[in-house]
Amino acid sequence: MDCFSLETHSKDETMELGHKIASLLPNGSTLTFTGDLGAGKTTFVRGLARGLGITETVQSPTFNIMKIYMKGSRPLIHIDAYRLADIDTDIGLDEYIGYETGLTVIEWPEFIERLIPDNRIEVTILNKGGDNRSISIKSKDLKVLEGIKSCL
Ligand SMILES: Nc1ncnc2c1ncn2[C@@H]1O[C@H](COP(=O)(O)OP(=O)(O)OP(=O)(O)O)[C@@H](O)[C@H]1O
Ligand SMILES: [Mg+2]
Repeated sequence: MDCFSLETHSKDETMELGHKIASLLPNGSTLTFTGDLGAGKTTFVRGLARGLGITETVQSPTFNIMKIYMKGSRPLIHIDAYRLADIDTDIGLDEYIGYETGLTVIEWPEFIERLIPDNRIEVTILNKGGDNRSISIKSKDLKVLEGIKSCL
């Protein structure tokens, strides 16, 4: 697993990061977003959505658990597993994770760990105070990671 980190200093910078990398992610990619409440997971996903040409408002689907955006260059499946913390019920999420012709992004992956493929791209966001965030991106797919690094 290779990894690199960078810092952002505003929500716009985090969105910009998502926007830039969107086109570099192969179809079927699963990205997980780990970080505390308010770390900036959804902000990053918003940038990704813009990068895919999705114009709808993107919010954490905390209550709905999953929201699918079909109006961009490819489907974006946004899962927020926060409410699944204490639930061990099969709601069929596995059919959408790794969706072949789109991207799947998952906030609070720790609650559905068993459903997440090994070849995930792991984004971890740490609040460093104020508007500063440390963002690390980790993947076993060195080609994808190199692609991301070189576009920043
Ligand atoms: N550098 C930054 N990157 C991202 N967000 C930032 C940054 N600086 C400040 N913020 C603010 O932090 C908040 C991040 O909220 P966001 O909804 O993205 O968090 P989240 O990790 O998805 O939280 P939750 O677990 O509740 O879904 C927003 O209010 C945003 O404006
Ligand atoms: Mg969120």
